[in-house]
Amino acid sequence: MSGLSRIAGELALDGMKLSEVARKFGTPCYVYSRSMIESAYREFDRGLAGVDHLVCYAVKANSNLAILDLLARLGAGFDIVSGGELARVRAAGGRADRVIFSGVGKSQSEIEAALAADIHCFNVESEPELERLDAAAGKAGKRATVSLRINPDVDARTHPYISTGLASNKFGIPFGRARDAYRRAASLSNLRIAGIGCHIGSQILDTGPLDEALDRVLELARELAADGIKLEHLDLGGGFGIRYRDEEPPDIGAYCRRLAERLKPTGYRVMLEPGRSIVGAAGVLLTRVEYLKLDKAKRFAVVDASMSELIRPALYESWHEIVPVAGRGARAETYDIVGPVCESSDVLGTDRSLAVEAGDFLAILAAGAYGMTMASNYNSRPRPAEVLIDGDRALEIRSREDVASLFALEKRIDDAAAR
Ligand code: LLP
Repeated sequence: MSGLSRIAGELALDGMKLSEVARKFGTPCYVYSRSMIESAYREFDRGLAGVDHLVCYAVKANSNLAILDLLARLGAGFDIVSGGELARVRAAGGRADRVIFSGVGKSQSEIEAALAADIHCFNVESEPELERLDAAAGKAGKRATVSLRINPDVDARTHPYISTGLASNKFGIPFGRARDAYRRAASLSNLRIAGIGCHIGSQILDTGPLDEALDRVLELARELAADGIKLEHLDLGGGFGIRYRDEEPPDIGAYCRRLAERLKPTGYRVMLEPGRSIVGAAGVLLTRVEYLKLDKAKRFAVVDASMSELIRPALYESWHEIVPVAGRGARAETYDIVGPVCESSDVLGTDRSLAVEAGDFLAILAAGAYGMTMASNYNSRPRPAEVLIDGDRALEIRSREDVASLFALEKRIDDAAAR
């Protein structure tokens, strides 16, 4: 049984009762479904089956080694944005020759590490980065494969904080500069041009803007061909939305089949960089109600998860469904679900009708993407455990941090030594 269900009133993930997981591993705790992650990846892979393609999972969405390993075993590539993510992919057994490196601020040492690893492609985001990469490749005695990330100036119609394809965003090379940037790249002897990249935003529900971005990418590809610049691939980024509340997410299989049909005649290899749509729905954050606080203008359920574990509601006012793990027969009331952190924005959900008592477990749904990867240690909170449901096993894929590790790198000053 794949996904969330109720077994005799108890919430289960892939048939595994979440109250048992919460008791065994403690709360707060992230729990993911292996089968949901794998089937989400396969939807992309199968949808693109008609063309040469590489689905590069965006590691930033959830970078646990166990998850990277699962995807590597299915043949996935990886979209990374830092040297740290490259190290993770390699530690998880991912192939460097399926790694693409995105990001506006690649440092010298990150570029050197990626060159040494012989990654598949650098998605270059600016003209100064072209120069830096060319010099680094020359020094390393290598030719770096590049794709220029073009900013198509298309409105993805998503939250402004996660929209990236507008001219006013920091990402990519402006569409109007693209041809010149490619000419410059072609003149640099340590670079090999392989493609065009673009990524217009995240949590995109309407595929119209993705189609518009593709139109612009194809227009540029034609201009580059006229300039004698040959391309091997088109990378259309990630950004596919999922359902948090009542959104209608795009049908990934149908979108991919359409894309494959449209691009097949061009002969280009198709690349995508999905993150959220692979892991988002596959994860929940389990938490326990510490107190019901009923003496204020609003009723609060204070839980043991917070903005330190899941910052999306505080940062983007995003909505995550919150449900009891096991109904204990309490009467439903309206609560704000808040954490212990000392910030008024430490809210996980507002005005939720829930039948809960102190001590109950709650599940915060669709938390598999940008949950744990954006978790912090604010208020000296150890980051939570992560558990993977793999058939009938619940496997701890990251232990809960211990408090000592939070300050293990810190040092007190020694007044005597300074004298
Ligand atoms: N490729 C590039 C270049 C990206 O910048 C991103 C996400 C992706 C791919 C993957 O996008 P996805 O398929 O996951 O939408 N923290 C925010 C989302 C930030 C997305 C950043 N870039 C959130 O929690 O909603």
